[in-house]
Amino acid sequence: MRANRLCQLLNIRYPVIQAGMVWASDWHLAAACSNSGILGTLGLGSMSHEEIALNIEKMKNSTENPFAVNIPLLRPDAVDLARIAHDAGVRIFITSAGNPERIAPDINRKKTIWFHVVPSVKGAQKAEKTGVDAVICEGYEAGGHNSPLEITTLALVPQVADAVKVPVVAAGGIADGRGIAAVMALGASGAQMGTRFIATDECQAHNNHKRLIVDAPDTGTCIIGRKLDMLRVLRTEFADQMLKSELEGASREDLLEIIGNEFNRNRSGSVLGDLKDGAFQAGQSSGLVNDIIPVDTLVQRLISEYNAARNSLPAL
Ligand SMILES: Cc1cc2nc3c(=O)[nH]c(=O)nc-3n(C[C@H](O)[C@H](O)[C@H](O)COP(=O)(O)O)c2cc1C
Repeated sequence: MRANRLCQLLNIRYPVIQAGMVWASDWHLAAACSNSGILGTLGLGSMSHEEIALNIEKMKNSTENPFAVNIPLLRPDAVDLARIAHDAGVRIFITSAGNPERIAPDINRKKTIWFHVVPSVKGAQKAEKTGVDAVICEGYEAGGHNSPLEITTLALVPQVADAVKVPVVAAGGIADGRGIAAVMALGASGAQMGTRFIATDECQAHNNHKRLIVDAPDTGTCIIGRKLDMLRVLRTEFADQMLKSELEGASREDLLEIIGNEFNRNRSGSVLGDLKDGAFQAGQSSGLVNDIIPVDTLVQRLISEYNAARNSLPAL
């Protein structure tokens, strides 16, 4: 795997980003990822302001390599999170789930590298115009919040690559080196991966979250909340209850009552491992994840799988 445009921009060895994930990407995981030569990312979406400061401090003490913070713009205090992170010395920002214009004045003014997550060509063009350094195209396969546009990674990445000049990172459905090679053939400069990194020793998510991913077949996830905020989760008792109510035509209000506080629901899954009532966010790539291993072992495996996939192409 050669250092390319994305590696140069981020000053990393391999063109892979460990995704920011609520309740599942604190400094333990992010530091291990940065130390292994990819970009580690702190998921600020589920952290208090104090936890953010503590996690950034821990990162600075655990790695000399670059790392990013992920800020979902649906958080009302997103601008404050960016300020806290910037004041603490963070220079790489990944924003998602909202209008990039909202945070542009704050981020562009500073000497930062800024990536924004988009679900469409239009979203990518808007982000580019707003001043981002790269776009992360997230397809329908991805774990967590999902766009109602439902464009898959395979279709989205080449269309965005044709439409913007900034580097494109692919996300959603990638869990091994073959996937990385595939999205790079489609025009991406690298891959962002979430689900695969939950099943690592360093990820602090509850073991039940990791086991559900490892045990999941290809059909192991579903989209819940089509009338609310769409979320891709693993099939559990709670997810099946949501699906049943949606199928029976439950109203938005009824569904809101079933899901309750989404923040707490996700915490019950990822932190407490509550198999009955928790929500466990994960992507369709869960079916490709078969073990829980150290981050460094995973990154080395991704590289050899990527090289094997590339080497097999001339024979096609
Ligand atoms: C448990 C979990 C939590 C997530 N939380 C966030 C988040 O806080 N912010 C965000 O931008 N994306 C979030 N995502 C999406 C990831 O950043 C990433 O784009 C996605 O996982 C890529 O697809 P994959 O799961 O197929 O690798 C989350 C995904 C998962 C699985």
